[in-house]
Amino acid sequence: MPIGFHGLVASSGSASCKLMTLRMGKLQGQFVVENCHQLTAGHNRIRIAKGDPVNQKIPFSNFEKPLSDDPASSYTMPSHLYLDPSVYEIEKRQIFAKTWHYIGHESHVADVGDYLTLTIGDDRVFVIRDQSRGLCGFHNVCRHRAHQLLEGAGNVRSIVCPYHAWTYKTDGSLHHARFGGEMANFNPEEFCLPEISVEVVHGLIFVNVDINAPGIATLAPGFADDMQTYIPKLSQLKPVEQFAFDGGDAPYWSANWKVVVDNYVECYHCHHAHPALANIMVMNSYEHTVADQWARQISTQSRQNNSAYTFSENDDVQIAAYWYLFPTTSIWLVPGSANLFVLAMMPIDHERTVFSGHRFALEGAVEGDEDVQRAVYLNEILGPEDQRLCESVQQGLRSSSYNQGRFMVDPARSGTAEHGVHQFHRLVLESLAKAEDGQAR
Ligand code: FES
Ligand SMILES: [Fe+2]
Repeated sequence: MPIGFHGLVASSGSASCKLMTLRMGKLQGQFVVENCHQLTAGHNRIRIAKGDPVNQKIPFSNFEKPLSDDPASSYTMPSHLYLDPSVYEIEKRQIFAKTWHYIGHESHVADVGDYLTLTIGDDRVFVIRDQSRGLCGFHNVCRHRAHQLLEGAGNVRSIVCPYHAWTYKTDGSLHHARFGGEMANFNPEEFCLPEISVEVVHGLIFVNVDINAPGIATLAPGFADDMQTYIPKLSQLKPVEQFAFDGGDAPYWSANWKVVVDNYVECYHCHHAHPALANIMVMNSYEHTVADQWARQISTQSRQNNSAYTFSENDDVQIAAYWYLFPTTSIWLVPGSANLFVLAMMPIDHERTVFSGHRFALEGAVEGDEDVQRAVYLNEILGPEDQRLCESVQQGLRSSSYNQGRFMVDPARSGTAEHGVHQFHRLVLESLAKAEDGQAR
């Protein structure tokens, strides 16, 4: 029986710290594109011609071809939304600073002082375990003159800024600033680290820059229970491998993050573009369920002998399943020994995306030949197949011949239809439209 959402919200505030009011909204109301696109209006629809520099507003609705609530009649979002760096600037505020992103696993921050960092758009953040408050999340920016405080992951007794050594406690309060005690009108409480929201779902830690953000259970009801239903030995899985965490020199895909998500949230391409994957999964059993801000694809049947890798009928995982949590989180498992991948599809900028996260396995599990075969298939065949698809799409979106396509869906919303992509486009456009409507903070 599924167990519920495991929420741990670090929001109580330290005794010595008053929560600072965050000013997230540098961009307000209408947005202006400079030197990007030319607008031509016709029949109340707006088409953006690429490459012609003018100074105009970015439209997030009323496109050349309509997007509608019904995927069967809706066109896809227009190509300028994948190409324009100004759109990504708005996405940082309207989407990335208001949504939940995977940062790591509870086992990464088991001891007091353990920390993890993450970059979300323009915001650097970290989570850290405090003696009395438990898991806390803060902006990773010094309150003195804005230097980054922590890098990567590790353990600290206190947080010491590398620039002028302002020192913060693990509860975010300012502990020491040289000359601070000798200055008039210097109140350390004014310089506590601003908090972010933190939640834990099945041991997975998510952060949200918005301190007032609704919880994951509110935004994506059913998501946590669904994972519990389908992931064998979920509570026993531990991170055993890290992928390109938090930028750095991570290998990236040359595609807008939305191209990468589009590709993840459909299996319309699986038969043709991933023949071996479509041979592992019994595609007749494939289902794709979309819900509020999350979706799940599942192949409930699979073939132990297939053209990708072999596995045993005794292995813990006999299904393939792929969860999506808006906007960046992919969580998936494939047949074989107990496994889970939790990977964020994180933009580096408007045309580069990196998968960052972890592979999970049973603690202490010894990997055999089948596990090696599976890893080779995933890393050397499946991953490169999707990378080539996404990078080709990114190039195609630049073409003067292309603006909007169609979502291909059947009435039954079969597992290989594209209703998941439609849901994603609706979520993106709802977020961006708030900017257009002047609702940005
Ligand atoms: S910027 Fe951190 S101490 Fe100066
Ligand atoms: Fe794919």
